[in-house]
Amino acid sequence: MKRTTGQDRTKTQHWRPATRAVRGGTWRSEMGETSEALFLTSGFSYDDAATVAARFAGEEEGMTYSRLQNPTVAMLEERIALLEGAEACRTQASGMAAMTAALLCQLSAGDHMVTARAAFGSCRWLGDHLLPRFGVEVTTIDARDNAAWEAAIRPNTKVFFFESPANPTMDIADIEFICGLARAHGITSVVDNAFCSPALQRPMEFGADVVAYSATKLMDGQGRVLAGAVCGTEEFINDKLLPFQRNTGPNLSPFNAWVVLKGLETLDLRARRQSENALKVGRFVESRVPTILHPWLESHPQHALAHKQMDACGPIFSMVLDGGRAQAHAVLDALELIDISNNIGDSRSLMCHPASSTHHNMGPDGREAMGIGEGMLRLNVGLEDADDLIEDLDQAFTKAGL
Ligand SMILES: Cc1ncc(COP(=O)(O)O)c(C=O)c1O
Repeated sequence: MKRTTGQDRTKTQHWRPATRAVRGGTWRSEMGETSEALFLTSGFSYDDAATVAARFAGEEEGMTYSRLQNPTVAMLEERIALLEGAEACRTQASGMAAMTAALLCQLSAGDHMVTARAAFGSCRWLGDHLLPRFGVEVTTIDARDNAAWEAAIRPNTKVFFFESPANPTMDIADIEFICGLARAHGITSVVDNAFCSPALQRPMEFGADVVAYSATKLMDGQGRVLAGAVCGTEEFINDKLLPFQRNTGPNLSPFNAWVVLKGLETLDLRARRQSENALKVGRFVESRVPTILHPWLESHPQHALAHKQMDACGPIFSMVLDGGRAQAHAVLDALELIDISNNIGDSRSLMCHPASSTHHNMGPDGREAMGIGEGMLRLNVGLEDADDLIEDLDQAFTKAGL
């Protein structure tokens, strides 16, 4: 393998985001391939026994085993770190593997975590069920309320964990305030940036310590693979995340890493075009439904904060219908172009009813506390022509009595 400029931080640091997304992290084999090579291998062989010993002792650079390093995965990790503006990144098999690793690698029994009430169902499950089983105390608050973050801090608080915008309520958390507060108290902030990707929001620019991803969403962006990523300082990644990840093995497969590498080449284009579509479709939806939760529309209570920390609105927004589950399901059943599907960040438009899918496990009380009603629908706006999407929604709304 030959390092290209893509691997050299002194040369890539000044690259603009579009260049980083296409070239960042690239290594080339002796074949000189232009597209990154896929190293679909679990192990590596050595010329002699001394080389094995030197690699395991960390005295010589080189691959040993794909749970520890893999060239295709390493290219993706360097590219994501560059896009994020992070010192380092490690990838995982899914977004949930990334969230779990980012939290478990640094929390121990007796520690305390403060987390957001409105969040993806499985992210809430980590705080509600998994961490307490291992003696980690968790306080859940309204992430929009800056004073609530401050009031929740205890002497043993180690982590603040939140996502913005939140899935599916589209609550916006004040990243700069929350991460600044965390820093001032020696607390590590972990921001789940799945709804935006580094193309639209870079939490580290607002003081985040750790940024974690479902790369399944915008980074792959074409509904092909599950993937996750955790970005942070060299110290966090090397001293906290890597010992956890290398010994527990939630690794991303080289094949999936290669697919996400290809996805990153078009991330910026897709994220911006899908945001344009989401704004156009959002304006239409606003004219037809009682409530829309869309960070770029003035009706969103945190519209100004969203504009401060996001470059564009992203592909996702939610709406609330007065007719509850029956009307929400009627809209889904009437769709002809948009798919009924619970993924997001995909280049296809997808719509789901969170109460009966992504947030089903929260139960009615849990959902009510998070602000997820029976009439809520979440839409991921894809790359289709926005006018076709509007026509589909128009006819579905009419059939559902809107
Ligand atoms: C905000 C957020 N975080 C994490 C995840 C989990 O990602 P994955 O499905 O890749 O495990 C999701 C999935 O929808 C999500 O929306």
